[in-house]
Amino acid sequence: MTRAFLRAFRSGVRAWAGPLGLALWAGLAQANADLGWRIITERSLGNCGACHAWQAAPASTSTFAPSLDGVAQRYNAAQLRQWVVDPRHLRPDTLMPVFGSLSGLRQPAPAQAVLSTEQIDAVVLALQQRTVIAQTPSAPPAFSPSASTSAPLTLAPKNPTPDTQGRISGLAFLSPSLRQMNDDDMANPMSLWVERGLAAWGQSKPGPTCQSCHGPVADMRKAVAQHPKLSPDGRSLRNLEDQIGVCRQRQGASSAQPDDTVLALSAALHHAARGEPIAVQAPVARQSVWQAQWQAGADQYQSRQGRMNLSCAHCHDDRVGAQMRGDTISPGHPTGFPIYRLSWQQAGGMDRRLRACYSGVQSAMPEPGSAILRSLELYLKVRANGMPLEGPSVRR
Ligand code: HEC
Ligand code: HEC
Ligand code: HEC
Repeated sequence: MTRAFLRAFRSGVRAWAGPLGLALWAGLAQANADLGWRIITERSLGNCGACHAWQAAPASTSTFAPSLDGVAQRYNAAQLRQWVVDPRHLRPDTLMPVFGSLSGLRQPAPAQAVLSTEQIDAVVLALQQRTVIAQTPSAPPAFSPSASTSAPLTLAPKNPTPDTQGRISGLAFLSPSLRQMNDDDMANPMSLWVERGLAAWGQSKPGPTCQSCHGPVADMRKAVAQHPKLSPDGRSLRNLEDQIGVCRQRQGASSAQPDDTVLALSAALHHAARGEPIAVQAPVARQSVWQAQWQAGADQYQSRQGRMNLSCAHCHDDRVGAQMRGDTISPGHPTGFPIYRLSWQQAGGMDRRLRACYSGVQSAMPEPGSAILRSLELYLKVRANGMPLEGPSVRR
């Protein structure tokens, strides 16, 4: 009797679970597609809009990667899943990050896959349901003034005048209003830092002043353009801020650590050196030590890094002019430091900017002043040799 009851009970359950289950499943699928779309759009989750455009609200206008509109017409669910989990299986040299694995990634931070299996399921479902046909070209527009005037965000270069080697400074990539703020000394927040630095140059601390050993700031133009240099013992690279720190100890400062006075002195010296062509060279003695430092920087520049699995070169050589949300990728030339960055609401040097790029690819960040940041600065300066220093600048 119990057995008969159980059988009846089970078939009863099956009878109502069928339609209800289907309805439940459909509801759940909808919920998951909504969740998936949230994962796609939100910066703290998939952040797909940093690279991909789409038309659905909230729209994304990034041009780093092809539009996601209509992507489900090009790929089935299994292929879409593969793109998101680990696109290296589809295209070994891909610029699409790995969202479902950590295998082979350098210094991922935090050290867990960006998305869980459940989140990726939801993303795939959302991609399948958003089948808007792409109206926009799927290839990112090449960097050219005409392509950028039609771009929805007019952050494009106003007067991109490449030098004889085709190099363009980051200044050319500022929006017109930022460019104006940069060019007007009254509006440029770095002017205050320059004034403060000029005052510090002539101040005694209580030891000798910078001026008493070095003369007027203007006499330092060449020296500014030659940094980073090897330290006198040849063991490490010194950038301008490091050298200022060393000299402040000559004045009695307790440490060579960079602080606001060092940043202000760097601003004053860079200001005095405006127009001076960058001239970073191997010293006659210790050529091979210098070369090894440069090589370390070059290797780091080319290495894929972090959970986004991108190298500096992928962005600053291969995708110049592409939009990542509000940013236009410049070639990353070190001509305008130190910078006042609006998003920081503060001034910062090269280390801070480079660390921001590490953070952007979700990589562990090297410590300020670390050897790898100095090697990278050396590599960037050599790459920009001959370009004029532009002095302290404003950035987005
Ligand atoms: C760092 C930039 C970046 C981010 C972030 C990114 N992608 Fe991509 N994605 C690319 C690039 C670049 C391609 C083009 C293919 C290539 O380079 O191999 C691509 C290709 C794709 C493709 C294949 C498109 C096609 O038309 O062939 C899909 C699907 C895709 N991405 C989905 C996503 C999803 C979903 C997310 C967020 C979870 C995402 N992407 C985040 C850069 C990115
Ligand atoms: C007591 C003399 C003395 C004082 C004071 C001094 N410096 Fe120096 N500075 C030197 C010497 C010596 C060097 C050569 C490198 C070294 O030994 O550190 C140097 C090198 C430099 C350089 C690099 C020059 C080059 O040709 O590469 C810069 C920039 C600099 N100092 C900035 C400053 C600033 C800024 C101050 C004030 C905070 C300052 N110095 C105070 C002695 C001094
Ligand atoms: C995912 C793309 C991406 C990667 C990878 C990346 N950056 Fe950047 N970087 C940016 C963006 C966006 C900006 C801000 C816009 C600009 O100035 O290019 C920027 C700015 C810079 C700047 C400042 C340029 C200026 O004129 O103010 C330098 C220098 C730089 N990056 C160097 C590097 C180095 C070195 C690496 C590798 C360790 C790196 N970036 C990795 C996207 C990237």
